[in-house]
Amino acid sequence: MTDPIPLFDAAARSAGRREALTEAFRRVLDSGHYVLGREAEALEQAVASRCGGGTAIAMSSGSDAILAAVVAAGAGPGDEIVTTPFTFIATAGSIARAGARPVFADIDRNTMTLDPELAVAAATDRTRGFMPVHLFGRCAELHHLTSWAQPVGVAVIEDAAQAFGATDVQGRPVGSLGDAACLSFYPTKTLGGYGEGGMVVTRRPGLAQTLRELRNHGARAPGGDGGARGSDANAGGYARLGGNFRMDELQAALLREELRRFDVALARRRLAAGRYLDLFGDLARDLPIRLPRDPGAPSAGGSATDAPLPGRHVFGQFVIRAPERDALRSHLETRGIGTGVYYRRPLHLEECFAYLGHKRGEFPEAEAAAREALALPLWPEITAARQERVVAACTEFFTGNG
Ligand SMILES: Cc1ncc(COP(=O)(O)O)c(C=O)c1O
Repeated sequence: MTDPIPLFDAAARSAGRREALTEAFRRVLDSGHYVLGREAEALEQAVASRCGGGTAIAMSSGSDAILAAVVAAGAGPGDEIVTTPFTFIATAGSIARAGARPVFADIDRNTMTLDPELAVAAATDRTRGFMPVHLFGRCAELHHLTSWAQPVGVAVIEDAAQAFGATDVQGRPVGSLGDAACLSFYPTKTLGGYGEGGMVVTRRPGLAQTLRELRNHGARAPGGDGGARGSDANAGGYARLGGNFRMDELQAALLREELRRFDVALARRRLAAGRYLDLFGDLARDLPIRLPRDPGAPSAGGSATDAPLPGRHVFGQFVIRAPERDALRSHLETRGIGTGVYYRRPLHLEECFAYLGHKRGEFPEAEAAAREALALPLWPEITAARQERVVAACTEFFTGNG
């Protein structure tokens, strides 16, 4: 058999950059400062400026970033946050960990992101926030949500874990579209680190201050860094409970190094996605699959190739829809091709959310996406030859020519 193609190759990115990464590592070793220091501050500034301004607060993970953002937005027991059931567990899981109730609204069939009209319809007088997810690298539609939420003082928190670098149709970066945005730097993300990491970006100074305190057990600090660094860390006392959501300096230093090649990596991701769209090309009209595409564009034949991509989709994953998803996946596996199923069960049907009392059939679009979505191999360095093999193996499955 020819060489296997993984779903994602996290090690490929360090090729040719070992010196630079090692240098970042050495810098931290020599500094003698290992948690929330100059590296984290520099990373915060760089990420905030890429999100169009505001303040960034480095966190231990994307999940903790969401938890802290929900708490900082004032949501807790008795409050509701409206979100999508078709997302990673951390979205609704972190809302629930903050003590609030996740309220699900169905997704849009074409984008697989939260349907803004259904989200607004799900709001009650207990709604404290909306949490749309920029799924698979594609910016969710926020305009309708923010214009409804802002006048009534309801927060919009972007779950931007999968989409740092993406923009909306007007070219505005994710991270600048709501009251706060949560990022993840898990290795497979568009800005991936070498371990765990996350961040919240916000333009609201009050939220930023609360988030700094929350990430350091709630320690109040007039200087605003939550007292993380001094030997008298609790001098200001603890007005509220937080946690240890701090970022390591090593992680921050390596992420700063990753940020230097971020534009190149994004361009390569988009190039690779465009190549899939070209390779599937007209075939996609005849095959029972759907490619990621612009829902606003004419959908003649359901092909992606004739549809401009809205904003800048950063293809955190390249996810197709296929009714025979599991059989296609098994076929690709026999050809040595790795794929991913995001997400096999929509969250309203997960056991951990049984207490919400949902039933199968309540969110039909999320349920259909969970049956059909399949992520194909994609990372910035994937070669054209490997992508050709992936597309050939898909075609072979549908046409029986193998
Ligand atoms: C949509 C979404 N939200 C939140 C998270 C949580 O991020 P982390 O893994 O950094 O905790 C992830 C990443 O895995 C994600 O994909």
